[in-house]
Amino acid sequence: MGVVAMDGPSGTGKSTVSRRLATALGARYLDTGAMYRAVTLAVLRAGIDPTDAEKVAEVAERARLEIGTSPTSPTVRLDGDDVAAEIRGPEVTTAVSPVSAVARVRELLVGQQQAIIADAAAAGQGIVVEGRDIGTTVAPDASLKVYLTASAEARARRRTAQDAASGRVSTVDATLADVQRRDRYDSTRAVSPLRQAEDAVVVDTTELDIDGVLARLLELAGSRG
Ligand code: C5P
Repeated sequence: MGVVAMDGPSGTGKSTVSRRLATALGARYLDTGAMYRAVTLAVLRAGIDPTDAEKVAEVAERARLEIGTSPTSPTVRLDGDDVAAEIRGPEVTTAVSPVSAVARVRELLVGQQQAIIADAAAAGQGIVVEGRDIGTTVAPDASLKVYLTASAEARARRRTAQDAASGRVSTVDATLADVQRRDRYDSTRAVSPLRQAEDAVVVDTTELDIDGVLARLLELAGSRG
């Protein structure tokens, strides 16, 4: 198995199934959302307005990201600090859409993502890459492209449960509004919007649990050799 591209909006169970799929395939794992989140944290730490594209690009040029690719313990470092927990907080989640819409930020991060993918290939290892533009832009030659979807309500419910599990209080209504806001932003931005690759297999997870989704993905991965 070469590259598996896992795209789709948030709350589809994408991260959990991508990590489990990578583990099952003995492959590496790359969470590209974590990279956009880490740059967003750098922007917030620098006290810069996330909508100021020029200043955001400058921060992105300077930020030193180190992304671990183990599916069981993916690590994210920003300028030497472990930021894996902080990048999931509400401040970063609110600011990440405008930061990831900046063309220079995408150019820098897509380059780093392609280098990580090339590194896995050079080591003879497969890699499961999750994000929004993997099948369309980062890895258009991926051997398997999956587009995960689910109804907005199902996604909001899952995100609220995830927040509660990590000690953050939120309501399904507030989360639904946030999910819809981010979907709108991510799908309408000019550079690399969230969209399904023409050759992606759509997997709707509204009615499936994680084991059901994983079984379907393993079946697809098996049939693509
Ligand atoms: O997947 P996650 O929710 O961590 O992604 C956070 C944000 O990063 C998304 O809402 C989107 O704005 C951005 N993103 C992106 N392209 C990717 C991955 C994430 O624009 N490949």
